[in-house]
Amino acid sequence: MHSKKINKRKKINISVIGLGVGFSHAMKIKKDKNLNLISVYDPDLKKARLLSKKLNCKYKYKFNDVFNDKELNSLVISSPDDKHCNQIIKTIKNSKNFFIEKPLCNNRKELVKIKKELKLKKNVLFESNLILRTVPLYKWLKSKIINKYFGEIYSIEASYLYGRSEKILKGWRGKAKNYTGMNGGGIHMIDLVCWLLNKKPKEVYSFGNKICFKKYNFNFKDFENSIFYFDNDLTASISVHLGCIHKHHHILKIYGSKRTFIYDDKGPRVIYSKKKNSKHLRVKYESLPKDKTILMNNFFKSILKNKFKKNKMKDNFNLINILDAGQLSHLKNKKVKINYEKY
Ligand SMILES: NC(=O)c1ccc[n+]([C@@H]2O[C@H](COP(=O)([O-])OP(=O)(O)OC[C@H]3O[C@@H](n4cnc5c(N)ncnc54)[C@H](O)[C@@H]3O)[C@@H](O)[C@H]2O)c1
Repeated sequence: MHSKKINKRKKINISVIGLGVGFSHAMKIKKDKNLNLISVYDPDLKKARLLSKKLNCKYKYKFNDVFNDKELNSLVISSPDDKHCNQIIKTIKNSKNFFIEKPLCNNRKELVKIKKELKLKKNVLFESNLILRTVPLYKWLKSKIINKYFGEIYSIEASYLYGRSEKILKGWRGKAKNYTGMNGGGIHMIDLVCWLLNKKPKEVYSFGNKICFKKYNFNFKDFENSIFYFDNDLTASISVHLGCIHKHHHILKIYGSKRTFIYDDKGPRVIYSKKKNSKHLRVKYESLPKDKTILMNNFFKSILKNKFKKNKMKDNFNLINILDAGQLSHLKNKKVKINYEKY
């Protein structure tokens, strides 16, 4: 039992990169006595200066400068998606662990570069912010799936309803290289489905359109749908709606041979009968993450306790392979096999 306790004398010294959602990470680090926020970096220097004052830490003029602090152990990278790959590579070269906002990177080409660096620095650990795994409702759902409560699952439908159009139309997302709705939002649903099933899809067929935002000058689709093919003919249809008329939300439907699970804006429920007037069971667990910093905090705690599970890194590699195959399917307009490289 003793080894599981956090070594109270040891602290993790962290720099936070990118101060959008990164600001919440920095605040959480400040509140944790085992973690030490030593610096922040954001190219918006006014923001960096202001927030570093509030957080009582240093701010850096350049990303590379964060590595000048000898005591630095780790980074939290919360920059725009298209900046992740280069920043990760520099972080690995400097032998620092990192917690990265999702997606780890944008495509397989970037993933190969990251893996190459990780092979040279085998001690570097990372995790990304796949936040739906922390939701009590989905922990409950996973345990029920394992216990066959829903019978044999034969179909899943999941939708990511983006809501906040201004983030696409005015922020970095509409301008970033290689941005896609599936990489940005759909990734949460893909990860949730794979994690719930404890399975990886074998093939994917993707399609989409750009109708809602057709007058805007970016080259990704605002609606994407991918059908993922698992073993035993189980399919999961996952869609991302960047322009839909709905608040930010997600929908999940799990169809099993014994019961059906539905989560939408009417709340989570289990349907157990085909009869016209039959009632359903309300599921009373929290359906949204409490905050976006839980996994970040747990990542560093698990490192301090020497308990970090490296298979989480593999899950992130697999996710990028899945997303990449989805993009290839869009381009080829046909179903494609998903290649999972070895790690
Ligand atoms: N896990 C989640 O649920 C979740 C939610 C929101 C965002 N995100 C992810 O977090 C990351 C940041 O998104 P956001 O919503 O905070 O965006 P944001 O626009 O709110 O903030 C991004 C910040 O990064 C800064 N920035 C720009 N270029 C940079 C660079 N080269 N290096 C460092 N910082 C840079 C900007 O000045 C800005 O302050 C993205 O990867 C996004 O996908 C994850």
